[in-house]
Amino acid sequence: MLNIRYEKTTTPKELPTRDNPLKFGTIFTDHMFVMDYEVGKGWHDARIIPYQPISLDPSAMVFHYGQEMFEGLKAYKAEDGRTLLFRPEKNIERANNTNKRICIPEIPEEDFLQAIKEVVKTDEAWIPTKPGTSLYIRPFVIATDPFLGVRPSDTYKFLIILSPVGAYYPEGLNPVKIWIEDEYVRAVKGGIGEAKTGANYVASLKSQVKAHDEGYSQVLWLDGVHRKYIEEVGAMNIFFKIDGKIVTPVLNGSILPGVTRDSVIRLCKAWGLPVEERKIDITEIKEAYEKGTLEEVFGSGTAAVISPVGQLRWEDTIMQVKDGGIGEYSQKLYDTITGIQLGKVKDTLGWTVEV
Ligand code: COI
Repeated sequence: MLNIRYEKTTTPKELPTRDNPLKFGTIFTDHMFVMDYEVGKGWHDARIIPYQPISLDPSAMVFHYGQEMFEGLKAYKAEDGRTLLFRPEKNIERANNTNKRICIPEIPEEDFLQAIKEVVKTDEAWIPTKPGTSLYIRPFVIATDPFLGVRPSDTYKFLIILSPVGAYYPEGLNPVKIWIEDEYVRAVKGGIGEAKTGANYVASLKSQVKAHDEGYSQVLWLDGVHRKYIEEVGAMNIFFKIDGKIVTPVLNGSILPGVTRDSVIRLCKAWGLPVEERKIDITEIKEAYEKGTLEEVFGSGTAAVISPVGQLRWEDTIMQVKDGGIGEYSQKLYDTITGIQLGKVKDTLGWTVEV
């Protein structure tokens, strides 16, 4: 159990007005959680303080070699007034898996959950309630040793910041266009592709800019060795409905084990839909498209929730997914997952945790 010190802000900010659409990740609440780590002392000095810039030595290791872990989860305000988190234990487990992979000391799970709950409770008034909105929670750890050599840091900071958000993509639930990347790669097995760390996202920027310039929202990555097996979208995992079956890339060590991905698989199985987690060759998607059996494509992620895909481009082939509208299962999954998150749909799977 953490002993959290509190320092309340004396200059609270204005809450976002209901009429302004919330752009993802642009507004931050009044407080943040901070905790320090030092070899020999462990994690210590847990505090909730006013949201503010942090001061670091320019030689802090995170700036040079990128030793950092981040996570993303959301809090929702249910109609009955409860504040709900969605499967936070999955994010905490993944955070510590990332920590292990990049030599950051683990954070005790119960302390991690307590920190999330306490900071969310502190800024509960910031949880937006309009359809499609939530309070995005961003826990992260950075390496802070002032040192220019390459080794794990001996000191770290763990922070949790909060941001009231709307849809991740400006398209909202409208289908996005996805560019299948054949020039650059994101990750390979044995690397850090399954860790949630900034390096995976910086690796994606060049292709993302290229895709944006061509009018596409996101990049779908192929595997880095054969350049033919489908991996993930970077901000989302990917699902295909082919001839009545739900198909998604198997967790192979180079893609992120998404919490929403796991939720989609479990819901589809509960609905009696066949689900296959396996290698998917891009030519299989092209063939399904040509045969007319590519029934739906959608991405899943905490930020994006469910994002229908209306068009895929691979080399010179542009694949229009059905009529380009929101697919039946994309809509059903979106409604069910957000329904559970908001406490409107019965949570038979025990996924929500009250703050
Ligand atoms: C999330 O879905 O929470 C993520 O961390 C993805 C990020 C690109 C916003």
